[in-house]
Amino acid sequence: MRKNLEFPKDFLFGSSTAAYQVEGGNIYSDWEDYYPAGEACDHYHRFKEDFDWISKLNQNAHRFSIEWARVEKKEGEFDKKELDHYKEVLFYLKQRNIKTMVTLFHFTLPKWFAQKGAFTKKKNIFYFQRFANKVFDEYKELVDFWITINEPQVYAAQSFLLRLWPPKKSNPILYVRVLKNLILAHKLIYKDFHQKRDSVFVGIAKNNQYFEPFSKRSILDKLVTKIARWWQNEWFLQHIKNHLDFIGLNYYFHNRIKFPFFIRNENKVVSDIGWEVYPKGIYYVLLELKKYNLPIYVTENGIADKGDILRKNFIREHLYWINKAIYQKVDVRGYFHWSLIDNFEWEKGFGPRFGLIEIDYKSLERKPRKSAFYYAQICKTNHLPTK
Ligand code: FCB
Repeated sequence: MRKNLEFPKDFLFGSSTAAYQVEGGNIYSDWEDYYPAGEACDHYHRFKEDFDWISKLNQNAHRFSIEWARVEKKEGEFDKKELDHYKEVLFYLKQRNIKTMVTLFHFTLPKWFAQKGAFTKKKNIFYFQRFANKVFDEYKELVDFWITINEPQVYAAQSFLLRLWPPKKSNPILYVRVLKNLILAHKLIYKDFHQKRDSVFVGIAKNNQYFEPFSKRSILDKLVTKIARWWQNEWFLQHIKNHLDFIGLNYYFHNRIKFPFFIRNENKVVSDIGWEVYPKGIYYVLLELKKYNLPIYVTENGIADKGDILRKNFIREHLYWINKAIYQKVDVRGYFHWSLIDNFEWEKGFGPRFGLIEIDYKSLERKPRKSAFYYAQICKTNHLPTK
């Protein structure tokens, strides 16, 4: 019997990054023309130093993404040097006994693919599938978990409704088309990988949120909450549920919904960028996912907290609720904190600080925050301390 606040044996404790946010020099990516990240954290050259921290901080797993635009700078030409680079990256992790989780599409795309219309066109799925298969053939022995797509709904909304991310469109038809094509892309890649190898774990990183009605007595609030929950948490997963070996959950948001679609949160605790901290929400979201009967990995969860004032509690409370969900028989098998290091937070730039490790952007020096050592203690003991 597990003791209270203990995590299951073989539980993964790690952290996540994404290529464009940390590597630097991703000049062939579509984001470069909209929001250049410059040398970012220079993780491309300093990954060994960063991964040494993973070990020193007792983490046993790491999630990162492969930048498609590096590997296939020109359509149809795979770059040997870049393929070797990611092999070295994976080797380095494996040698240190760190489980590897690789994301194939984390918001950024090659410029040439974007110019073709990216995922707005069904025929373009072929290019992503070809890239995915190439990467699979190269690294299949070195990757423990594959994530096809990171947060499909965030990507589609930011890029095709809200005009925030490349290609900065506002077109509901394109928005739905992109989502449908991402569903198809995921299924095709899932099938390809399974055809090539029996023991393969393919999933997705889904940004599910905890929705509740602003007023529990209002029928209208309850109705719109249901619709929001269905659209945000259910729709995509229902389409791919037979093509998943696990569910990756990115949890950041809680929304109290007031008719017609207002968000009215209490915001008792908020991060540096105004995101409400609501740890209990992860418990409800995990309970919602139980029906899929699949292993779940929390693939992202973290806070912008430059002064490292809230992070320790943030980690503690989220893990507390995850632990509780496990006791309710939700099959959660791992937790990846966002993020290992401070990084480029998309359209918000370098301001928000999500890292367990602080980056000095002038010297590029790395310095673990206090909360990183707190998390390291949990990773080591597999147990949440009472305080
Ligand atoms: C998620 C993204 C990740 C990071 C965090 C803060 O939506 O997947 O890249 O930006 O938010």
